[in-house]
Amino acid sequence: MSERVIPIITQPLANLAIPQASSSATWHHGQPLTDMLNRPLHDLRISVTDRCNFRCSYCMPKEVFDNNYQYLPQSSLLTFEEITRAATSFIALGVEKIRLTGGEPLLRKNLEILISQLAGLQTLNGKPLDLTLTTNGSLLARKAQTLKAAGLKRVTVSLDGLDDAVFKRMNDVDFPVSDVLEGIEAARLAGLGPIKVNMVVKRGTNEQEILPMARYFRGQGVALRFIEYMDVGATNGWRMNEVMPSAEVLALLQSEMSLIPLNPSQTGETAERWGYLNDQGEHDPSLGELGFISSVTKAFCSDCNRARLTTEGQLYLCLFATQGYDLKTLIRSHGSAENLTQSIANIWSQRSDRYSELRSSLPHDTTRELAGGTQRKVEMSYIGG
Ligand code: GTP
Ligand code: 5AD
Ligand code: SF4
Ligand code: SF4
Repeated sequence: MSERVIPIITQPLANLAIPQASSSATWHHGQPLTDMLNRPLHDLRISVTDRCNFRCSYCMPKEVFDNNYQYLPQSSLLTFEEITRAATSFIALGVEKIRLTGGEPLLRKNLEILISQLAGLQTLNGKPLDLTLTTNGSLLARKAQTLKAAGLKRVTVSLDGLDDAVFKRMNDVDFPVSDVLEGIEAARLAGLGPIKVNMVVKRGTNEQEILPMARYFRGQGVALRFIEYMDVGATNGWRMNEVMPSAEVLALLQSEMSLIPLNPSQTGETAERWGYLNDQGEHDPSLGELGFISSVTKAFCSDCNRARLTTEGQLYLCLFATQGYDLKTLIRSHGSAENLTQSIANIWSQRSDRYSELRSSLPHDTTRELAGGTQRKVEMSYIGG
């Protein structure tokens, strides 16, 4: 295994000041909201805990997230009512999809109560929300039915290989593959589909699992997505030579399977989709699909419509941001919902983040400066994937 570089972790810096409405871009009720690059606000990702029972080396390396690591105290977490209040404001601004993340979201106590509150909300067009959750699957077998009953629509499960030794090296807590597969099965039985499975590919660690994963999930109606290992956070010791570009992953799959590119299912999608051809050479959707999330080699910032709300109520405009906006104080001040909505609109309308695109245009050894110095980038387990 390659050498790990573990820089000292620091807490996020002080919050950014919430901007006033600018004269050139004031949002009014009923108007579409866009940012400085003309991107709408469509997708809200809410982190409900900064804790996880896995220690994936690319996300929460054991050396940093050890017994001494200071997780957020209970008192600083947004309550379910506060999250729902925030979500209502985001929906008023056009959000149609809400994803619950972590850390591991199923570790948050009574999460089904939050899900039932969010499931009661409707989009601006009066449609139900696309309400989903990203999980490592470890508690899914136990919780799938309850989550479905509470109103969750679907789940995305992270799984980085089918071989126990490889998977355990990735999760670093000796967690077996079979329990995650049981979780996926339970989600299917509970009707939490279409199910997506996310595999982060780290060259030198799990690339030998690409073909076995595709063989296993082909025919199961699952969307299996390969994710390029990203330089997110400040603790994973990211190196470009550990990234396996999606083009290489695709070529490997095509050496064995007949595939066809598919159109995006919506604007701003993270994954490029491919379908399977059957023996007659026709696209067969029942076999499932493949996806490629290429944040490193093919940035998709130009239509990024995602906002992130951290466990303690800060709004981040980019996965690679170094600072967020403190919404918690606004939510807790018991000001009007109108005020909260207007503040979020002001923040979004002045957004210009496009980290991955900028990084692609720079030599890889200069990207630390781009993010304001490696130690300042926020962790994915804190901000939510
Ligand atoms: P679906 O609507 O189910 O397709 O969800 P999604 O692809 O938006 O969400 P998911 O949590 O499955 O995202 C998959 C992975 O893509 C994440 O774990 C990240 O690795 C990466 N990702 C998601 N959003 C962003 C983003 O805005 N920027 C970058 N660079 N990577 C992202
Ligand atoms: N690179 C790519 N994806 C990551 N994730 C976490 N850290 C990284 C990283 N460094 C994503 C994975 C995982 C989800 C919870 O977060 O997709 O499945
Ligand atoms: Fe936990 Fe997911 Fe991060 Fe792995 S990637 S440590 S499962 S939050
Ligand atoms: Fe969006 Fe930032 Fe990811 Fe680009 S790098 S897609 S702006 S979250």
